[in-house]
Amino acid sequence: MKSEEIRKRFLDFFKEKGHKIIPSSPLIPADSTVLFTIAGMQQFNSALAGEEDPLEKFGSRILASCQKCFRTIDIEEVGNDTHHTFFEMLGNWSIGKGYFKEKAIEYALEFFCDVLKLEKDRIWVTIFKGEKGISKDEDSIQIWQENGILKERIKEFGMEDNFWGPVTETGPCGPCSEIYFDRGEDFGCGDKDCGPNCPNCQRFVELWNLVFMEYNKERDGKYVKLPKKNIDTGIGFERLVTILQNKESTYETDLFLPLIQRAENLSDKTYRKDKKSFRIVVDHIRGAVFLISEGVFPDNLGRGYVLRRILRRSIKYAKVLGLKDYWYVPLIKETVKIYEKIYSEVRRKETDIISVVQKEEEKFKRTLGKGLVQFEKLLKTKIKEQKSKIIEGKEVFDLYQSYGFPMELTKELAEEKGFKVDKKGFQKKFKQHQEISRIGVKKKFGGHGIEKIGIEEEKKKIIKLHTATHLLQAALRQILGKEIEQKGSDINMERLRFDFSYNRKVTPEEIKKVEDLVNQKIKKDLEVKEKEMPFERAINSGALSFFKEKYPDVVKVYTIFDPEIAEIFSKEICGGPHVKKTSELGFFQITKEESSGVSTRRIKAILK
Ligand code: ALA
Repeated sequence: MKSEEIRKRFLDFFKEKGHKIIPSSPLIPADSTVLFTIAGMQQFNSALAGEEDPLEKFGSRILASCQKCFRTIDIEEVGNDTHHTFFEMLGNWSIGKGYFKEKAIEYALEFFCDVLKLEKDRIWVTIFKGEKGISKDEDSIQIWQENGILKERIKEFGMEDNFWGPVTETGPCGPCSEIYFDRGEDFGCGDKDCGPNCPNCQRFVELWNLVFMEYNKERDGKYVKLPKKNIDTGIGFERLVTILQNKESTYETDLFLPLIQRAENLSDKTYRKDKKSFRIVVDHIRGAVFLISEGVFPDNLGRGYVLRRILRRSIKYAKVLGLKDYWYVPLIKETVKIYEKIYSEVRRKETDIISVVQKEEEKFKRTLGKGLVQFEKLLKTKIKEQKSKIIEGKEVFDLYQSYGFPMELTKELAEEKGFKVDKKGFQKKFKQHQEISRIGVKKKFGGHGIEKIGIEEEKKKIIKLHTATHLLQAALRQILGKEIEQKGSDINMERLRFDFSYNRKVTPEEIKKVEDLVNQKIKKDLEVKEKEMPFERAINSGALSFFKEKYPDVVKVYTIFDPEIAEIFSKEICGGPHVKKTSELGFFQITKEESSGVSTRRIKAILK
């Protein structure tokens, strides 16, 4: 069955059962505290929480949709059988007065077994075993059994696996019951306890998550009963298609195969020989198509940062595969073809998408070029010093870290020159690094086994460094002179980097003055004001712009005013976002001052 047909059958099924079909909401959610839409229920969140009337807002209390989703948390995992950045989720909802567990379970089985003809005896389910003062879901055990699911195929799990939501810190949530499909012994580990959530194998694939939304998680962490119960369900569409088309991985289904084949035509390699690289290229291009179609641009923070990351990762692996120039054009066009009927924005934005990708590729190629110089230097030294023809794990990792060379690329290049890479050593270094950067919040979204790690923390940190960059530029202009001009800027989790025109070294005394001035403005807890205005007006009002950037007609201007001396300290045209008050930055420290080309200096700084 074609993927298009599966999507249609789902929506038709629920329409017949009286549901109103609601179009997908954008990937960029209305709630700006969330980076992307990660589940079908997000557009119904307020109604599910009882804050809005679903009848008024959506014209029905029972709804169904096919929703575009984007999850960033496991970008590094993309390339295996089941992970994607962009994916679709099919779901049905009953909000407030409507149906609950019984009907939700009946519908699910009817759709899977009668409509899609999945064999009932290959269906296993999980239920909530009770935890944290919330009782065991005995009802579901009974309902599943009444509907022909044998007791031994009903497994119990706790909060980690069988409790869904909320999407942010607070909001509607509840125990859930998940439907798994048994792919058969060939996929199994053979363990006698093997079943859903098996830690050793992928024999059981989770397909549908039924959430019995009965609670609201409050600010104090307590779960309070919602005034009215809801049903919230979600099917990972790509996984369902994989099962129905009887494929080992999603990349072999009709959602991806045309893309894989296109990429194969542009490469001397075959998919079978290097699945991982092909998968990364096509998944990320597909994700980028959807993000750009909603107006996201590559940037060093927020959503733009995610886009830049997937685009660059795609470009890197395109290089690993030796794809021909402009390889992304046919891949973008193919993606548009697969999705235009359902998400017309991809067709409307096709030209923009191609041009954004092209620009980012050009930009990134320059960085890769620098890495190549470094790589060749390394080989030369090794040859000169007659060292063994092995590139050590640390060296491979450094190329990855500083110039974005994936291990596969280094390996390719090395092998051309008769060198080998220490793969294990690299992986060890890589793991260590991952552990270190795995900071902050670790939150599990029930249902899809996907973890949301630190993305909010990451965002906050980058926003702070961004505001610090504005303060730094203002301070440099005050201490060194108004003629200094921004030449470049780059922010990552650890530090900010700012390049500016200046024809000599900045003395340690001047550095200290700059630091002190920035810290003084931080301590004063000044407000960071944001205002939109036409570009012309912004420039005339003295807002700084960055010559390399192409600005739209209407721009945002961020102003930091110091009321004590009635002076505008910083005013820049900038896409944002920024902190609200400067005190959020903590303590500012310059860690390095160095040359960065002719009459250009580079400053690196951190916040503590
Ligand atoms: N909201 C539930 C999920 O995304 C259905 O798994």
